[in-house]
Amino acid sequence: MISRLAIEGYRSIRSLVVDLAPLTVVTGANGSGKSSLYRALRLLADCGEGRIIASLAGVGGLDAVRWAGPERGTAGGQRTEGTVRSGPVALRLGVATDSVGYAIDLGLPVAQRSAFDLDPEIKQEHVFAGSDPRPAGVLVERRRGAARVRLDDGWSDLAAGMHPWASVLDEFAGRADAAELAGTRRMLRGWRFHDALRTDAGAPARQPQVATRAARLDDDGANLAAVLQTAIEMGWDRELERAVADAFPGSRLRLPVVDGRMTVALEQPGMLRPLSAPELSDGTLQYLLLTAAMLSAEKPGLIVLNEPERSLHADLLPALAARIRDAASETQVLVVTHQAALADELGGLRVELEKVSGETRVAGREGPLDQPSWHWPRR
Ligand SMILES: Nc1ncnc2c1ncn2[C@@H]1O[C@H](COP(=O)(O)OP(=O)(O)OP(=O)(O)O)[C@@H](O)[C@H]1O
Ligand SMILES: [Mg+2]
Repeated sequence: MISRLAIEGYRSIRSLVVDLAPLTVVTGANGSGKSSLYRALRLLADCGEGRIIASLAGVGGLDAVRWAGPERGTAGGQRTEGTVRSGPVALRLGVATDSVGYAIDLGLPVAQRSAFDLDPEIKQEHVFAGSDPRPAGVLVERRRGAARVRLDDGWSDLAAGMHPWASVLDEFAGRADAAELAGTRRMLRGWRFHDALRTDAGAPARQPQVATRAARLDDDGANLAAVLQTAIEMGWDRELERAVADAFPGSRLRLPVVDGRMTVALEQPGMLRPLSAPELSDGTLQYLLLTAAMLSAEKPGLIVLNEPERSLHADLLPALAARIRDAASETQVLVVTHQAALADELGGLRVELEKVSGETRVAGREGPLDQPSWHWPRR
């Protein structure tokens, strides 16, 4: 389970450390930093896929996403416009589980001599034991081009001249003497994100799809029917029936296969024939997509939902919350929402964000010392 998340220098997040629970609900007003936290998690997941640099370049490079306020924040309320930075530009992301953690520090190239102007560099990476990257717990350390692993009898070098865009997770995950790297990469790759599942008229979930078993919902929801049918065949038919009955009393889900292609349909009270996927309302489809994401045969390490309540009427929130709570009994779930009603239904650990002087903070915290411990390795 992921126990702690740390972000520094990303969009409105100057410095934030939050502890996570099996079910964590992140709420806050518009502009408080919920999406920033969500995107920071996605960037961490990108580290596991070896595409963090490309992702940052894709959104305009480090300059476009780094914290635009002063380094020390504005706790005293003094004017900050026109002040200059003294420290290096740094975007830092970190995550800790009960056994192992990972922290990455990204910065700008020292002297730019390349056409790839937007590419940031990986300055440091640390894999560590415990919930905080303190020096004593560091297992693998990468500083600029040099990487080393801690063995029983001291440090052993992994590399001396790593490229600034290469991650230790990619380069050395196969090394038997650095098994933590493979474990960390697997952990990051096991996260699933569901954001803006498409429900518009042309949504892939409304089209018939090849009938083949599907253990996880595609990012665009295209294999919705196959995921639901797979769940039924794996013995979750009662859970699925309950999900449909909770949201649409009297209705029954149908998953017809025609010429090897499968779609979703809903038998509804008062209708002479089941309504087919193109006829379902946006909210109905959104609910079925989220149900599929929660019931899918493959249980990921972490499911992250960004505003799952989108296009759902308030009446459906209790049913949605029930699906999420069920999933959270088997998988860790983090929900980002600005609907207080959904947050209340969900329960779990509530993290309320607020923006103070342009900076994202956790509501109720007295000050910087009032957050879980996290010691970023010094550059
Ligand atoms: N580089 C940056 N530095 C400082 N603040 C930034 C930067 N980029 C964006 N912001 C601000 O961060 C704030 C938080 O944005 P975010 O999208 O995370 O909000 P949100 O909580 O998801 O809001 P909503 O509920 O409207 O989606 C916004 O007010 C935005 O203007
Ligand atoms: Mg948002």
